[in-house]
Amino acid sequence: MSTLSDSSDTQPACVNLPFPAAARLFVPALTLATALALSACSAGTGEATTPITQSSSLSAQAALGEKIFHDASLSASGALSCGTCHDEDHAFAGATAAGIPVPIGGAGGPVQGFRNAPSLKYLTQNPAFFFDAEGTPTGGFDRDGRANSLREQARRPFLAAHEMANASAAQVVDKLKVAAYAAEFRAAFGEQIFADPETAFDRALFALQKYQQEDLAEFAPYSSKYDAFLAGRTQLSAQELRGLALYNDPQKGNCAGCHPSARGADGAAPLFTDFTYDNLGVPRNPAITANNDPAYFDLGLCGPDRTDLADSTDLCGAFKVPTLRNVALTAPYFHNGRFENLTDLLRFYVRRDTNPDEWYPIDPGTGEPQKFNDLPPEYAANVNTTEVPYNRHPGDLPALDETDIEDVLAFLQTLTDGFQP
Ligand code: HEC
Ligand code: HEC
Repeated sequence: MSTLSDSSDTQPACVNLPFPAAARLFVPALTLATALALSACSAGTGEATTPITQSSSLSAQAALGEKIFHDASLSASGALSCGTCHDEDHAFAGATAAGIPVPIGGAGGPVQGFRNAPSLKYLTQNPAFFFDAEGTPTGGFDRDGRANSLREQARRPFLAAHEMANASAAQVVDKLKVAAYAAEFRAAFGEQIFADPETAFDRALFALQKYQQEDLAEFAPYSSKYDAFLAGRTQLSAQELRGLALYNDPQKGNCAGCHPSARGADGAAPLFTDFTYDNLGVPRNPAITANNDPAYFDLGLCGPDRTDLADSTDLCGAFKVPTLRNVALTAPYFHNGRFENLTDLLRFYVRRDTNPDEWYPIDPGTGEPQKFNDLPPEYAANVNTTEVPYNRHPGDLPALDETDIEDVLAFLQTLTDGFQP
């Protein structure tokens, strides 16, 4: 898997900022720590040795974005805001009840969605989608990278039938017009802004982007125990250190191969994702209603939600590598919410190929486990079976044993923001 720095010539981090100059204009208004992190970001790194703990003063647009983010009146049902599915107590990931793998939205009656809602933290460094020099798909927003910026991304939830379910941009703007913050919206974007619904809607999306990019205390505080450890301000326990070593060991977890844990060459804080894509052969989740149709498959990069790569069948089944920062708070896991806890997820990683019967239904005809049952058979070859820990066969020992798994789990728990020494 390639790293972001490999591609930094062509695609610097923060390239998704449509108005980088404007972002810099706000720096003087911010705290020193925030300003440092922001200017580091502009230079293509995410270095932040001092955790960002105070909510800094936001630009008027970002402050509006925060209000829009939490405003349920902007949904067709009046009950759903961005924050309903991206809960700040869960690192802005989906907080669904046990057994419910994906969020439920809709205009009136409940409509189940198709994917587990990811954390919105640390997307400040997520570049727009591109293929790197080796042809590796990288970056983009959503689990299939189909949105090129946070602003573009924010359009879908307002209008999707299984999310906030508005019929049109104009319908959203009709609600914005009567929101408690309508006067602030006019002050920020012009007295006549509501006269042109498409422009007003686009300004709302821009405000949401500014909120997610500027409020670093919320979205990119770098305040985990692991950050404190990297900065030399605390120690990890013996178990956490064992977990970290297993996590990094190319012959054991090899987790850092896709979820890097070390500072970049430029000193940038690790993001625990290289923003690439991979096909892990995650088992089908029967709790997703769409999966009742045996012909339905969520194939990530090659569709059905994303349409421009439909012919790149080698990419079918590949999903974006998510950050593991705050992963202890973001259950359920994977694009289809198939795993409800990290212990089972880690067992899946290392026992997928040694003990496939634990993860896949048994084919009544052959008596064999139906491996990679969430892919049409012609795409099974796309699953990663070469990199550690997936390079095993039935009868081999798993790359991590149960004690190792407990150690890796202890390490993953050091990635939760808000550590108090
Ligand atoms: C009904 C639940 C729901 C609501 C409401 C919702 N989202 Fe999401 N969000 C999701 C899901 C599910 C995904 C993953 C979608 C995909 O991969 O196709 C997602 C993905 C995202 C992403 C991409 C994250 C990444 O890793 O690339 C961002 C950013 C985001 N949402 C922001 C928002 C904003 C802003 C709003 C409000 C305008 C919002 N969401 C409303 C469920 C929701
Ligand atoms: C070859 C690349 C690769 C390696 C190696 C890898 N992962 Fe992942 N990881 C991914 C991808 C891709 C996803 C998203 C899969 C999906 O959504 O279907 C993911 C998802 C996850 C998630 C779910 C996060 C969430 O919020 O849903 C966790 C936890 C995780 N990985 C931990 C690990 C650990 C621990 C290791 C080492 C044992 C590891 N990964 C090794 C690529 C990798």
